Amino acid sequence: MSTPTTVGDRSAGKPIHETNPVLTIDHVSIDYLAQRTVHAVKDVSLTLGRGEILGLAGESGCGKSTLAYAINRLLKPPAVVSSGTISFHSREGYSIDLGALQGEELRQFRWDRISMVFQGAMNSLNPVISIQAQLEDVFSTHRPELSKKERREKCGELLERVGVDRSRLKSFPHELSGGMRQRVMIAMAMALDPQVMIMDEPTTALDVVVQREILREITRLRAELGFAVIFITHDLPLLLEISDRIAVMKEGEIVELGQALDVYTKPQHEYTKRLLASFPSLTGDRGDFARGTHGKGTDA
Ligand SMILES: Nc1ncnc2c1ncn2[C@@H]1O[C@H](COP(=O)(O)OP(=O)(O)OP(=O)(O)O)[C@@H](O)[C@H]1O
Ligand SMILES: [Mg+2]
Repeated sequence: MSTPTTVGDRSAGKPIHETNPVLTIDHVSIDYLAQRTVHAVKDVSLTLGRGEILGLAGESGCGKSTLAYAINRLLKPPAVVSSGTISFHSREGYSIDLGALQGEELRQFRWDRISMVFQGAMNSLNPVISIQAQLEDVFSTHRPELSKKERREKCGELLERVGVDRSRLKSFPHELSGGMRQRVMIAMAMALDPQVMIMDEPTTALDVVVQREILREITRLRAELGFAVIFITHDLPLLLEISDRIAVMKEGEIVELGQALDVYTKPQHEYTKRLLASFPSLTGDRGDFARGTHGKGTDA
């Protein structure tokens, strides 16, 4: 492992997304070829640094989930990636063009290297299967070499990692609170130690206290495990707390991209200014935010 690098700290030299990228989105456009063609993502370019938390903000319908699905190669017709490339850069130093992955290669890549917590994920657990069986399924599919005992042990560890007691493994989804179910989904996304996690509105349906706890957990785990996160939400104050950088999307385009603090203190685009102004809480003391408590990224 190499020396940890402070994410986004300019005094430490170049930012991590320039020196050690894990994902590059290069001039990507995505259309929905429906009755009326929707240009959902327009010429988006972004680089995600290893261990970085990148916040993606923007109003409903601006294309956030479409971009997230494209990164995971989960888009279905009528969606088409009409131009651009998305590349993943491994720790070992080689790059993979995600658009070129097929079949088994794609299946192995997904979840293993890049995982996703879906919008509304807590309702996507299978109601008639125990938490244990659903978590174990990830391991039996992707880590068939593990013994049953090892799988069980890993499931317990995973749950505890996201702050849920392992006795809950026996529970069925309806026996858990919304916050716990969401933690289970986050645990599942972390199961295979991916290098990138895409979180699409992972905490929106939860109350503020639970939301905070989960966010704290994500930033702590990021510091511990070194994965990078693309965190999607329309909740800009929340992004300011947890992100190293923030991208603001509007009508399919990235209109602003910068260090979280810069986006907050010196927004460049008119739309960002309007977005900031629409959150009255942001006019309060910035000390309200827990930015100082989040962990550091790693370039390991
Ligand atoms: N299957 C589809 N067919 C046609 N248009 C679609 C389809 N899915 C999404 N769109 C359109 O693509 C655009 C982007 O949608 P997307 O779901 O990516 O937005 P979003 O930023 O994630 O919004 P939200 O914050 O509400 O989740 C919207 O105009 C949407 O109506
Ligand atoms: Mg969405």
